[in-house]
Amino acid sequence: MKGERLVISGSFALRGCVSVGLTLALATACGRTPATPAEPAVEPAKPEPTPAAPPAAEASPAAAPAAVTAAAALDIKPDLVTAASPKPGDVPLPRLNAPKLPVPKGGEQWAAEFALTPAVGELGGPRAGLNDQETIDFVRGRAAFRDGPGEAGGLGPKFIQKACGECHSHPFIGGEGDMDHALTVGIRPGETEVVFLHEKAIAGFEGDKAPKGMILAKSRAPMLLGVGLMDKIPAEVIAKNADPDDLNHDGIKGQVNMRDKTVARWGLKSQDLTLHRLIVGSLIADLGLTVAEVKDAQKDADKVDDPEASPELIHLYEAFLGNLAPAPRGPITDNVRAGEKEFATVGCAACHMPDLDVAKGIYSDLLIHDMGKDDDNKMPDAKATGHDWRTAQLWGLRLRKAFFHDHRAKDYDQAIDMHRGESEKSRQAAQALPPERRKQLMAFLASL
Ligand code: HEC
Ligand code: HEC
Repeated sequence: MKGERLVISGSFALRGCVSVGLTLALATACGRTPATPAEPAVEPAKPEPTPAAPPAAEASPAAAPAAVTAAAALDIKPDLVTAASPKPGDVPLPRLNAPKLPVPKGGEQWAAEFALTPAVGELGGPRAGLNDQETIDFVRGRAAFRDGPGEAGGLGPKFIQKACGECHSHPFIGGEGDMDHALTVGIRPGETEVVFLHEKAIAGFEGDKAPKGMILAKSRAPMLLGVGLMDKIPAEVIAKNADPDDLNHDGIKGQVNMRDKTVARWGLKSQDLTLHRLIVGSLIADLGLTVAEVKDAQKDADKVDDPEASPELIHLYEAFLGNLAPAPRGPITDNVRAGEKEFATVGCAACHMPDLDVAKGIYSDLLIHDMGKDDDNKMPDAKATGHDWRTAQLWGLRLRKAFFHDHRAKDYDQAIDMHRGESEKSRQAAQALPPERRKQLMAFLASL
């Protein structure tokens, strides 16, 4: 069965595009990284913080990265779906919300996992107010996200990475990726479909190799803090900010990307509809799992019984990502407050809108904007062209290693300088600020 193609139907788009195997794709394509001439092949090892960047101490507490190492050291590999699943009241929640509960027999591994999970208020931790069951599911979902299913759980036969946490990992589980773990998509010579490259495979199978002449594009994984709130924003709130004909003559259009006649918001080109679809799509396309709910992804060629991702497992991923809190803001000083005013004055906030309904502090309109010809990945997706991009959410900005979907910008100055197309005017206004006010703008960015 080697080389069997699994094509997912167009009705269920993975982040706007579909695929398992090199050939999966939709005519609608998925938005991914730009293959601009300036694109570095590999992300430079070290981000250079801008002068206004936050002191290291302000970034993530060591908790999450250390947690990964500690988990590996403890060799925690509980069966996430069947074994030793704690019930509310069974398990101590030492860093979360119920420190004194006894450890159930067989629940020791989960107790350790609880101890590794960042608490409410810590970066990478859950939102406040979860009940016991939601807390347990958050912890289990986080472990599943970090470790992946393994071959016994249905990984492959071809896959991109073995776990979500390989890509969404900086500086904590659920964070962003680097360009060494970028997602690669491409269009084969003579074709128009955008397809994924699954370069890895389990034993007995072969990963995809890009055919000669294929146009390739790479994107870093976005940070996932706050995605549960993003999912709750009513579509009308996103749609009402669109101005496709620029009726207010501010040079900024802002379009809604649509899929199945519905306002889309997920992915770097706002090409997909719900967090649930993103999760299921990622399980299929990134990890090679089969699921019951997607007709064309119900079977694959490896030996594990299908469907490999049970509804319970999918629920755990949702319980983790849906409850992952947005990053708390850094210290708000007078300079930061003054900088936020500059941010509005020069026009940044026209796209990077501070609040969208429940998503307070998101700093995005979730609309797509033409960012100019230098920001073109040649991978259209639904209504978005290669150079249309969703306004990047700026919450958690100070934790990011580099900027723009392909990490071409290494500091805030470069990020501003790369704003063209609809954002040209605000770039010019920001660059024309006198030094003191520009410093305040930078202080504001470093507080996000
Ligand atoms: C190979 C790296 C990689 C892996 C593995 C990966 N992702 Fe992603 N993820 C990405 C990239 C890149 C994007 C942006 C894709 C786009 O829109 O073009 C993304 C986007 C997302 C988004 C949308 C975020 C937003 O702001 O719209 C979610 C949610 C997500 N991934 C969840 C997951 C889950 C769940 C898994 C595991 C089942 C996973 N990802 C595995 C790289 C990865
Ligand atoms: C027309 C809409 C628009 C305006 C105006 C705008 N931006 Fe952006 N901004 C975007 C889009 C779209 C991206 C993502 C581009 C990409 O990934 O290729 C982005 C990305 C960024 C990023 C990088 C975030 C990340 O995670 O990679 C920063 C920082 C940023 N903008 C700051 C600013 C500042 C400061 C201003 C005002 C001087 C501004 N933006 C004005 C649309 C806009």
